Amino acid sequence: MAEDLRSLYVTALKNTHALELQALQIMERQVERLERYPEMDAALRRHITETHGQRDRLEEALSALGESPSALKEGVLGLMGNLAAIAHTPAQDKILKNAFANRAFENYEAAAYDSLITIAEAAGQAGPITGFQQSLKEELAMAQTVADLVKPTTQRYLQLTLSGDKADR
Ligand SMILES: [Fe+2]
Repeated sequence: MAEDLRSLYVTALKNTHALELQALQIMERQVERLERYPEMDAALRRHITETHGQRDRLEEALSALGESPSALKEGVLGLMGNLAAIAHTPAQDKILKNAFANRAFENYEAAAYDSLITIAEAAGQAGPITGFQQSLKEELAMAQTVADLVKPTTQRYLQLTLSGDKADR
C-alpha cells in the first residue's frame, strides 16, 4: 500500500476509534441516571455493548498494521466534544438535549464509517471492511432508534414536568 494511502487509512482508523471511545463516554454517562426513560436507557445499554464490538474491530484493524489507537483527546472532535458536554448539563431539559445529541451523534458515526470504508477500499484493505459494514449497519439502526425516541422522550418529559415531577433523568 502506498505510504500516503496507508497513513490516511491509519488516521481514519484512529479517528473512528476516538469517536467510539467518546460514544462510550457519552452513553455511559447517560445510563447512570436514566430512571424515568426506560426505552432510552435500554437502547443506550444495547448500543454500549455493540460499541464495544465496534471499538474492538477498529483495534484489530490497527494492530494488523502494527499501529495502536491514540489516547482520547478531549475537544479534538469539535461538534462531538460539544455534544458530549451536554450530558453534564444540570438543566431540567437535559434529557431533551441528550436526545438531540444522541440522534446527531449516531448519524455522525454512520458518516464516519461510510468514509472509513471508502478509504479502506482505496487502500485495498478488504479484510476489515465486512466488520466496518457491520458497524455501519449498527450505527444506522441506532440512528433510527434514537430518532424514533425523540417524540416519546419529549412526551414523557412534558408529562413529568407538568405534574411537577423531576423530568431530567
Ligand atoms: Fe454508535
